[in-house]
Amino acid sequence: MKSFYITTAIDYANGSPHLGHAYEKILTDVIARYRRLKGDQVYFLTGTDEHGQKVQQSARQRGIAPQEFVDAVSQEFRDLLPKLEISNSDFIRTTEERHKRVVTSVLQQLYDRGDIYRAEYRGFYSTRQEQFLQEKDRLPDGTWPEIFGEVTEIVEPNYFFKLRDHQAWLIEFLTQNEGFIFPKYRQKQVLEFLREPLNDLCISRPRERLEWGIPLPFDAGYVTYVWFDALLNYYSAVADRPGIWPADWHVIGKDILVPPHAVYWPIILKVAGLPLPKGLLVHGWWMQSGAKMSKSTGNVLNPLDLVTEFGADAFRYFLIREMNVGQDSDFSRQLFLTRYTSDLANDLGNLVNRTLNMTNRFAGGVVPAPEAAGEPEQELRALWDKTLGEYLPLCEGFQFHTALDRLFAFIRTINAYIEKLAPWKLGKSADPADAIKLRTALATMAESLRLATVALRPVMPAATDKIMAVLGATASGTWEEELAWGHRLTGAKVAEAMVLFPRPAPPAPAKA
Ligand code: MSP
Repeated sequence: MKSFYITTAIDYANGSPHLGHAYEKILTDVIARYRRLKGDQVYFLTGTDEHGQKVQQSARQRGIAPQEFVDAVSQEFRDLLPKLEISNSDFIRTTEERHKRVVTSVLQQLYDRGDIYRAEYRGFYSTRQEQFLQEKDRLPDGTWPEIFGEVTEIVEPNYFFKLRDHQAWLIEFLTQNEGFIFPKYRQKQVLEFLREPLNDLCISRPRERLEWGIPLPFDAGYVTYVWFDALLNYYSAVADRPGIWPADWHVIGKDILVPPHAVYWPIILKVAGLPLPKGLLVHGWWMQSGAKMSKSTGNVLNPLDLVTEFGADAFRYFLIREMNVGQDSDFSRQLFLTRYTSDLANDLGNLVNRTLNMTNRFAGGVVPAPEAAGEPEQELRALWDKTLGEYLPLCEGFQFHTALDRLFAFIRTINAYIEKLAPWKLGKSADPADAIKLRTALATMAESLRLATVALRPVMPAATDKIMAVLGATASGTWEEELAWGHRLTGAKVAEAMVLFPRPAPPAPAKA
């Protein structure tokens, strides 16, 4: 089996999970499930990023120890995973021993090789962003942008990682590996960023300013800069598991591509003598009315509200159907409700209900064998072959929103086929030719619904299991075999009709 290693970013253990965090997990999970169905041995890592100034401050404000604080927050992130049907193999916390051990050993190795040096640092520091700022970060009027919060000038000796020495190599690498970053235009942005000379990276924080971090192995007066620590999670989680590193994809948001993932990370790996990941998959942001959702702007939507109300599958479907991976997407409850009602309640839910209902009414609940496939059946089958021929490559290229668009067009065509064949009319006819048509129609409905359901598996794991169960389907063969038109349900006993996606209650009328 081919091994496939995929990661999400590790979330700051500094606040509760929100829609952006949920989305990234779901996107990664869809890819992980897709690869598993294709036969890969998948290792899927997620986790929490637990060191740094912000965590230290938040813990202090609450009057508790940082460890106690991150234990609670990390648990919240962990608890979210099963609720979203995330099939991760591992969950890493940067406060775990296995992680600290790797960070410490890489630091020592880099120090011994001379890639880390000590120097006096003078600079403007943003506590909120936990980074030193540069002159070019100032606004035209000389002040600092608000996102940096309070900015103070600091002079202190620190440790630096030699980035600049590897700038030419990185440019060369990115130029030769065009598909390293998805979408491609992001790779161009990185190359653009690399036109300016790189500064070496300050990887230490003096203990008196920051205690909550991994101590530098060669100077106990300092802890490790949180990004240097955090990036190594992808490797530390699997360092003891042979055959997994390097990662196939790191799934990250656009805000953490440059410089951490596109500049620091490849250089750290190169210097540590480790193979580079095969790619960085960069998604956009979920916005509300054009603004990024974040704690500080207060427009954070609790993803769990929709999950509790409509189920994880509907939530996953909406996020994957709506977001063109790479671009930003707008979120609103209204957009969710519109998709839910049209695609899930009407198109898919109705199809399931009708198929079960008619199979029970006209065939004693047993899927009949097709007898006389006429033009409508051949057209539907041809459409399936075309849909599948597009669906798989679209998934392969992370174009899930278009893949789902095609799949739901197929589902609507099944519904149109049912309208056209009108089994309820055929069922009333005494003509034996109509009885044949009826059995063929019931078989065709069931088969096309089965195929659409099998294709939907990576996106809606629980709902598709349920549909397969009520159709009386038994698992057989590989995913690709199951995706081929083949009337696999002939003779299957279906369940009673049921409503899979209940229509949301209409909003209460406004009081006069
Ligand atoms: N801890 C760092 C990542 C370290 S990875 C070695 C971090 N954490 S975060 O909690 O701020 O963000 C985690 C992920 O969620 C990032 O990939 C980020 O882009 C993503 N999102 C946060 N808000 C988002 C949206 N509103 N929309 C989509 N994803 C966004 O960065």
